[in-house]
Amino acid sequence: MQKKWWQKEVIYQIYPKSFYDSNNDGIGDIKGITEKLDYLQSLGITMIWICPIYKSPMADNGYDISDYYQLNPEFGEMKDLDELIEKAKEKGIKTVLDLVINHTSDEHPWFQDLLQNPDSKYKDYYILKPGKNGQPPNNWRSVFGGSVWEPLPNTDQYYFHSFAVKQPDLNWENKQVRDELYKMVIYWLEKGLAGFRVDAITFIKKDQAYEDLPPDGVDGLGKCTIKARNQVGIADFLHELQEEVFSKYDCVTIGEAPGVPYEQYGDFIGENGYFSMIFDFRYADLDVASGSEWFKRVDWNVLDLKNLIFTSQMEIQKAGWGANFLENHDQNRSISKYIKEEENRNFYSATMLGAMFFFLRGTPFIYQGQEIGMTNFTRKSIEEFDDISSIDQYYRSMNEGFTAEEALHFINLRSRDNSRTPFHWNENEYGGFSKAKPWLGMNENYNSINVEQQEKDPDSILNFYRKMIQTRQSGEASECLIYGDIEPILTEHPVIMAYKRKWNGKKVVCYFNFSAENQHVEIDQNHYTVLLNNYKEEIPSNQEMVLKPYQALILLQKEERHHG
Ligand code: NOJ
Ligand code: CA
Repeated sequence: MQKKWWQKEVIYQIYPKSFYDSNNDGIGDIKGITEKLDYLQSLGITMIWICPIYKSPMADNGYDISDYYQLNPEFGEMKDLDELIEKAKEKGIKTVLDLVINHTSDEHPWFQDLLQNPDSKYKDYYILKPGKNGQPPNNWRSVFGGSVWEPLPNTDQYYFHSFAVKQPDLNWENKQVRDELYKMVIYWLEKGLAGFRVDAITFIKKDQAYEDLPPDGVDGLGKCTIKARNQVGIADFLHELQEEVFSKYDCVTIGEAPGVPYEQYGDFIGENGYFSMIFDFRYADLDVASGSEWFKRVDWNVLDLKNLIFTSQMEIQKAGWGANFLENHDQNRSISKYIKEEENRNFYSATMLGAMFFFLRGTPFIYQGQEIGMTNFTRKSIEEFDDISSIDQYYRSMNEGFTAEEALHFINLRSRDNSRTPFHWNENEYGGFSKAKPWLGMNENYNSINVEQQEKDPDSILNFYRKMIQTRQSGEASECLIYGDIEPILTEHPVIMAYKRKWNGKKVVCYFNFSAENQHVEIDQNHYTVLLNNYKEEIPSNQEMVLKPYQALILLQKEERHHG
């Protein structure tokens, strides 16, 4: 694969509502991000991805856009964004925004017009179908629960929504819709953005027969993803988007593309693929039978995690380039998910996990708070949740026969609110996020996990992340860690994850102990120098090496000597 500029980036994901509140109204904002640019620069990251800040009634925290050209006033004004992009650029940080083009808000003027005007020209902008005998057109279940169909008032028609009722899907079959969207994307790219993270993009094509699905729940509905995600014909839309828009700019495009089989990865991320890179969620969803059914818990072990990650890495390596992540705004916190026993959630396991994902082949994404080891926050009642999908999963779990207590347990484990709690800047009230009560309850542990404290401690998770980023970006094995091929090793080992990266004769070997016990590995120390280690002790120079509990070790193989 030819080198691309975006392969070098380290991307930091910002959930603006929870990052930093500059005007003390309890809601994070754009100026808040600008004020924290020094912090971001000190981390060593090179790009920020900001979750949606467009005008929105915030039913899904901004993934429901009512005006693509305006910002939500609670986040700030256009001049604030221009200032942020400019100042970030001065610090060597590029900016990527979220692009939500599968659906709009029901408060978007297009949708409002069709609600009010029987002859609206926007009727064909959305997906409308007549009901069947007073029932919705079919039995598909939306991602956030209930039917994908909602009655259109005063008509016999229903409109389609893959996600929440307030997120009607746009009709991508209509070229006018696509053209409107392309125009908008170009407007934003002209503003100087580095690119986009493209939301829910595999949902834009639906199976046009709209036939019933075999029910898979007590609600009599079937998961819409079977017929509304990555359907035959999507290639034409994605190809057009790439041809008419993305290819005209030297931009990075990061597809949120769930439901793509590995055989199709070449089309998505190959040399002429639709996107620069896509996220693969298979390993992140290893604890549930499907990402959208949290009550179907799956027990897993380290070998399962290794297999999922390595399969993903090898498939992506064959096809193109990947977007690696441990956390995001839809996932629970990684230390709470991947380190099962609470007593083992500490500096070592947090940094081991961090390094394990960070040195995989692909562009790494760090989600706000991950770099200080923020954790899940267990809530005691359903009233404490904001996330619409948590609320749906709660009631659905009970409909499926679980008790209220069990239902609460499931959503506490997976809730998207786990990663959306306000950022911990210091140990002051509200973690220094705001002087006013934040829009979402703080995680109570902000006085023990926060930036200020970790800044002072050279051995903090935060400072480990800095070293880790520096090792990839500018260390002696930088090229190898960025562009090198990946090769899994010790694949059968039950608790050690290990892989090699190789580039132009250079070799880096990475070991991660996923257990709380010492583990022995055969390796000759004399052949390696240590690039990164989350323990301070020197590595003894003998044949057998002991990996300490949750140790992460990144070793550079010494250049081979040729004997004459
Ligand atoms: C994926 C986004 O990451 C998520 O937060 C959102 O709810 C859905 N897409 C719908 O836009
Ligand atoms: Ca604010």
